[in-house]
Amino acid sequence: MIPSLGYAVLLIIGSFVLNLVVSKIRFNRKYKFPNVVPGWPIIGNMLDVPYPAGMWGVDMAKKYGEMFTLNIGGRRLVYLNSSRVVTELLEKRAAIYSSRPYRPMMSEIMSGGARIVLMGYTDKWRNQRKIMHSILNGKQSEKKFDDELLNFILGYTGTLGEYQFNPLKSPADVFTWLSRLPKPLQWWRPFGEKFCETHVAMFQKEYNILLDKMNKGIAKPCFAVDVLHGAAKKEFEISDVEKIYTWTSLIEAGSDTTRVAVLQMIAGAACYPGWARKARDLIDEVCGQNAERLPNLADRSRLPYISAVVKETLRWRPFLQSGVPHTLTQDDEYEGYKFPAGTEFSWNAYSIALNDKEYSDPLRFEPERFMNDDLKLPAKGHCRRICVGLNVGANNIWIAAACILYCFDIEQDPEHPIDQFNTLWEEPTKPPFKVRFTPRSQAHIDLIEREGNIALATDY
Ligand code: HEM
Ligand SMILES: *[C@@H]1O[C@H](CO)[C@@H](O)[C@H](O)[C@H]1NC(C)=O
Repeated sequence: MIPSLGYAVLLIIGSFVLNLVVSKIRFNRKYKFPNVVPGWPIIGNMLDVPYPAGMWGVDMAKKYGEMFTLNIGGRRLVYLNSSRVVTELLEKRAAIYSSRPYRPMMSEIMSGGARIVLMGYTDKWRNQRKIMHSILNGKQSEKKFDDELLNFILGYTGTLGEYQFNPLKSPADVFTWLSRLPKPLQWWRPFGEKFCETHVAMFQKEYNILLDKMNKGIAKPCFAVDVLHGAAKKEFEISDVEKIYTWTSLIEAGSDTTRVAVLQMIAGAACYPGWARKARDLIDEVCGQNAERLPNLADRSRLPYISAVVKETLRWRPFLQSGVPHTLTQDDEYEGYKFPAGTEFSWNAYSIALNDKEYSDPLRFEPERFMNDDLKLPAKGHCRRICVGLNVGANNIWIAAACILYCFDIEQDPEHPIDQFNTLWEEPTKPPFKVRFTPRSQAHIDLIEREGNIALATDY
């Protein structure tokens, strides 16, 4: 009895191993990945990717070239290191290169399956996208945004960022089979559930207040109202939790990106003051040299240089340093390589932005590089699944840049030079770097106070 049981166990293990070896051989025959980076068994390169990954991506690209493949615990992740391959795959073949990796912890547990940036290419995704698109890219997209709850949001977006980019934080998102363990054994689950509950509860309260105002007909026009109107259309069958996430996704994807971008513009002005002086002279020609009025979006056609400042701000040190992974939805071939469905692709953002074959003198902040026909296309060269809010984001950066450059002298503090390679400014409550920020004149101070008081008195 005992020996035959022993044989049976051996046989089972043996056939399991054989099966593994055979399917690996088949897989290797069928598919071909570019420059595979050597890694450990099972975990692959999981421990190699630091956070943030910008400068690491630059070094890896120097070593491994235009495309290289990592194995993150069995998930294949191909890094694209030139705008050529990024355009070929993520843009021209966007129909099959735009899904998202399956993330049981981040997407299902922490986000109730309802946070758009983490969704696959599904109907749920399409619905939320349509609602957002109609709000963000219509005429009203230049209205002021409702910014209540901002601190709560800025507080947890850091956590989301870590879970997104640090595989060690979220093992179930790497080894997705872990999510098939019985729930009590899923040690990551309680944190994720609490995270989701807190989120929904926090916003449910605001949501109810807003609904109440809408019912009474006293809600002021704002994009949160638009989301609820948009989601109410019959074509979308959307749960309350999904409405909340549609709403909050817009705030969280839109606030911190804009905050960090504006800080980068300021760092760029302090480190390379020449362009900031030029920008100010141009704004002076439109708004007057003596603080006559603040620039506004209606001045855009007369201030193309500021639009170039926005583009350069987003290029200079991309804060999504290693891009955002996209998942391929069917097998595909490209230049001799064969990728299976499920392969992930990301653009090596830092490496592309800092490469002198892509941009001349790439370390400099130099808006002139964008003074060409692409100026009216803020998304060109920046986003892939395409950021649904980029027009709004670009407008917000535009207005902030124009007003700041018009009203302040910005200089580096010689005692505290800005670290231009550490632009990951994740703690919204702390100043990320030191800089000398001086109002230009008493007239400019008066202008800021006048306009500021009007803004403060605006009731939402
Ligand atoms: C201002 C600077 C901004 C930058 C640099 C930026 C960048 C990005 C990037 C890189 C992505 C991922 C694209 C991809 O996967 O290929 C993204 C997605 C997204 N962005 Fe933005 N964004 C900005 C502003 C905004 C604003 C203002 C909003 C909304 C008001 C917004 C809403 C979104 C949403 C909802 C997604 C997810 C889209 C999806 O997964 O289908 N973003 N953004
Ligand atoms: C990839 O990145 C590295 C370092 O950023 C760069 O030197 C190289 O030229 C890049 N391009 C290609 C096509 O490999």
